[in-house]
Amino acid sequence: MTLLPASSLRRRLLAWLLVSTAVIGVIALVDTYREAVKTANSVSDRVLAGSALAIAERVVVTENGALEVDIPYVALEMLTSAAQDRVFYRVDGPPGQFITGYQNLPTIPQVEGQSIGFADATFRGEPIRIAVLHRSASTGINSVPFAVTVAETTIARRQLTQAILIRSALRLAMMIAGAAAIVWIAVTVSLRPLYRLSDAIAERSPDDLHPIEQRVPSEVQGLVDTVNSFMVRLQSALDALRHFSGNASHQLRTPLAIIRTQLALASRAATLEEAQEAARKGDAAVAHAERILAQLLLMAKVDAAGSNEPRRPAPIDIAALAQQLTADRVPSAAEAGIDLGYEGDGPVLARAEPLLFGELLRNLVENAIAYAGHGAEVTVSVRQVADAVLLAVEDNGPGIPPERRPLVRQRFSRGEHRDAPGMGLGLPIVEEIAALFDAAVSLESGQDDRGLRVTVRFPLPAG
Ligand SMILES: Nc1ncnc2c1ncn2[C@@H]1O[C@H](COP(=O)(O)OP(=O)(O)OP(=O)(O)O)[C@@H](O)[C@H]1O
Ligand SMILES: [Mg+2]
Repeated sequence: MTLLPASSLRRRLLAWLLVSTAVIGVIALVDTYREAVKTANSVSDRVLAGSALAIAERVVVTENGALEVDIPYVALEMLTSAAQDRVFYRVDGPPGQFITGYQNLPTIPQVEGQSIGFADATFRGEPIRIAVLHRSASTGINSVPFAVTVAETTIARRQLTQAILIRSALRLAMMIAGAAAIVWIAVTVSLRPLYRLSDAIAERSPDDLHPIEQRVPSEVQGLVDTVNSFMVRLQSALDALRHFSGNASHQLRTPLAIIRTQLALASRAATLEEAQEAARKGDAAVAHAERILAQLLLMAKVDAAGSNEPRRPAPIDIAALAQQLTADRVPSAAEAGIDLGYEGDGPVLARAEPLLFGELLRNLVENAIAYAGHGAEVTVSVRQVADAVLLAVEDNGPGIPPERRPLVRQRFSRGEHRDAPGMGLGLPIVEEIAALFDAAVSLESGQDDRGLRVTVRFPLPAG
């Protein structure tokens, strides 16, 4: 599996910041531009209106009813002072009657109820802003309507809005750059504990699986905890493996030596009977080695299962399971002269995993078959009592003296049956499997103080 290179946290944060601030910035700039145009217009519109007003003051009606105007040049001066803008005007009498000024200058008709109107237009190829003032000059008898149009090129106001826009844009760009720098620094500082963490892990020796104790930001603590619990599991898996390989090489040495000896004997045998005898002994040693391997593997499996997170298996009917497993063993028990039976009625539920439960029961039944002696009775039973579920395997053989009972529960510890195949792992396996299911194992004497009864006490599944 190839992994794509992970994208950088820093770059991702920066991209988010830049894209979002750029979008917000563009919106803000558009708004600023609109506001600037409005402000510039309203300021210079007022000057335009003042100038139109000043001209209108000078419009008079002559005796023969014609309109006359004497343009006060100050009125135009107050406009041109602003910038390199140029100023135009025209005065019109009643509709269709041009009086003075620039005849081609665009003008606008009066809007009902408003004496002054403003508009944007073009004149001689240049954008202009015009103000039109509608008035009437009175002769005393009748009044003559007229319109004063004053226009100005828009260079000054465009410069003003541009200046406002550029200043805002600069301010915004500086803010974005500042924020980007802060994010850059903040990310660098915040990531420092992670770099230290990675250094600390890199410096470790490969078999150092101690928990990481580096201080990390709380967001990363979860990851570190997961890694730590993973290392704990890895450690116990490694321990189990080491145990297994150590035990296997130690325990298998003897049967393997026997097999080699028997093979050598067989190859040198003078008679067929001698060869057959050697083959039989070799075969027994192979069976022994097989059993040892099986027990060791089971032990390693239980060790590994135990080192995983504590699980709560679902409740199963262990009565049915025990009955079935017992029935499977009856023929081989009979061969060894053992009367194996099951006692109990109806289903009994307990939290257990079927395969491991089977291994637990197998070890107890095999012990009873192996050590109770010819003609003994072995009984497997499952029953529910007030506060627990009990699995018991009882025999009426020689049993184990009370003072030896703690000893046989230890790994590789055997009783007086050293000639029987086995390695002293059965009872420890039983105990470890039981512990996985929160069950407890006890060894007592059987009925009438004879034999051995091993009881595995499971908690009630409801709890
Ligand atoms: N039902 C029993 N009656 C008498 N002695 C027993 C009985 N069960 C176990 N023992 C004694 O306890 C010892 C330990 O048993 P355990 O099952 O742990 O190991 P093992 O049977 O010797 O080897 P393994 O089970 O690993 O093949 C046995 O060697 C035996 O001496
Ligand atoms: Mg055993």
